[in-house]
Amino acid sequence: MASSLAPVLITGASQRVGLHCAERLLGEGQPVIVTYRSERPGVQRLKDLGAVTIQAEFSSQESVMAFIAQLKDETDSLRAIVHNASQWVAETEGEEGDAFMRMYNVHMLAPYLINLHCAELLRHSKTADIIHISDDVTRKGSSKHIAYCASKAGMESLTLSFAAKFAPAIKVNSIAPAMLMFQSDDDAEYRVRTLAKSALGIEPGAEVIYQSLRYLLDNPYVTGTTLTVNGGRHVK
Ligand SMILES: NC(=O)c1ccc[n+]([C@@H]2O[C@H](COP(=O)([O-])OP(=O)(O)OC[C@H]3O[C@@H](n4cnc5c(N)ncnc54)[C@H](OP(=O)(O)O)[C@@H]3O)[C@@H](O)[C@H]2O)c1
Repeated sequence: MASSLAPVLITGASQRVGLHCAERLLGEGQPVIVTYRSERPGVQRLKDLGAVTIQAEFSSQESVMAFIAQLKDETDSLRAIVHNASQWVAETEGEEGDAFMRMYNVHMLAPYLINLHCAELLRHSKTADIIHISDDVTRKGSSKHIAYCASKAGMESLTLSFAAKFAPAIKVNSIAPAMLMFQSDDDAEYRVRTLAKSALGIEPGAEVIYQSLRYLLDNPYVTGTTLTVNGGRHVK
């Protein structure tokens, strides 16, 4: 890596929010390492912009530890870790345990192991951050998506514990977004119903997460918090 700046690691950055944040950081001259699971056009885009890309699957302890070893071959320092990789798996009858474990692995086990084993890389940077991308749904629970919500709530609990453990060298925070970007197959009725849930009523896109990330990276007095980015859903 040619730059003397320590890189920011973003997990699951082949598309949408992770891809946007990686592109914005690279545009500012900040070196970035990203993980991706599937080969998508975004991976090549990031390579062309100078990102280091690592294929990683966070589905088991073994695969997470293998990723950490690969990461340490690439760099001996990190400016920040952004835990963005996420899976939304419906709880279908007979497969609930499998769905729970898949989301537990990506939302809790992977951040837990990466934080523990990569703290030494962050400590080589003068300023260091861990940022967990959680979900606003943890504020009130979800009768329909119990496992997804529980695993994201667990991620917010990691924020509190790691903020205490790693202070003052490493700040640790969460960003909890509500709907940012629709999926291309979301129908009109779903879009109207979803937009009506927030006070601000817009589909903001990925830039609001980049802005939140920037705020947390730049602010020296915030740790152990969850930044709500929900368009005012809680006041509606
Ligand atoms: N978009 C929203 O409206 C919204 C709302 C609330 C919260 N959030 C949160 O914001 C973050 C970004 O959202 P997004 O919509 O950009 O997410 P997304 O499109 O679903 O992308 C997440 C990425 O995570 C990667 N991933 C999933 N499971 C993985 C695994 N087991 N191992 C390794 N990588 C895995 C996927 O990689 P591949 O594509 O390479 O397979 C995927 O590209 C997520 O944490 C999400 O929960 C988003």
